Amino acid sequence: MSDESRPSPAQPPLAPAGAPVAAVIPAAGRGVRLGPGAPKALRALNGTPMLIHAVRALAASRHVSLVIVVAPPDGAAEVKSLLDAHELPGSSTDFLVVPGGESRQESVRLGLAALPPEYGVVLVHDAARPLVPVDTVDAVIEAVRDGAPAVVPALPPADTVKEVEPAAEPGAPEPVVATPERARLRAVQTPQGFDRATLLRAHETVTDDVTDDAGMVEKLGLPVVTVPGHEEAFKVTRPLDLVLAEAVLARRRLNDGF
Ligand code: C5P
Repeated sequence: MSDESRPSPAQPPLAPAGAPVAAVIPAAGRGVRLGPGAPKALRALNGTPMLIHAVRALAASRHVSLVIVVAPPDGAAEVKSLLDAHELPGSSTDFLVVPGGESRQESVRLGLAALPPEYGVVLVHDAARPLVPVDTVDAVIEAVRDGAPAVVPALPPADTVKEVEPAAEPGAPEPVVATPERARLRAVQTPQGFDRATLLRAHETVTDDVTDDAGMVEKLGLPVVTVPGHEEAFKVTRPLDLVLAEAVLARRRLNDGF
């Protein structure tokens, strides 16, 4: 049998079925687009800091056994006491807090530096997405455990998207360069899930500016796949998003007493 016709041996999954799962939550951003005030992750939603909602959302998955919170550089002590003050009843999840950096990418890298060796699957989740449902978290974990090196939850965009030549002045008219076919576009959310070695390699080798971790894995030439995202996993970015987030929490409270 020639080499070409010999079936290639099955590749073992990158992160085996039972691999322990850790989550890194970058929460060090200022949240300038939300207006003046405390760092975004520490602002309250229905009386509870956004970060605490995000931590609870990930700890709600029975697969996640460690959450590493990347705090504002001068706010690690405050974040530690917030986590202590909002203990999660019945949760066996462990927590670590590390100070973050100047960019999201640097904050994630600092979080990964604190990752103990036994965790084969790593999620990276924005503190600014406090309401992600546990089913979305579990779908990402399952896809990584099934052998995907990188997984992103994604939704088809409601709007048509244009590529433009950005204007120097904010608000000035911008020439449209292209209209990508909407059916082929997806808006991606977090948590993004990774085989540990793949994510560490991406953060060691990719230095270009990227807005998500999966983008770094793409730059390594490795496959990234999507799973269905969820409309409640939206990112709290602008003041109206706070109103929407509080409305979602109020609806949950009505529906299931959460
Ligand atoms: O920048 P953006 O608002 O998209 O932030 C996404 C997430 O990255 C937020 O949870 C934010 O706190 C975090 N971030 C960070 N360190 C930075 C900038 C953003 O941890 N320097």
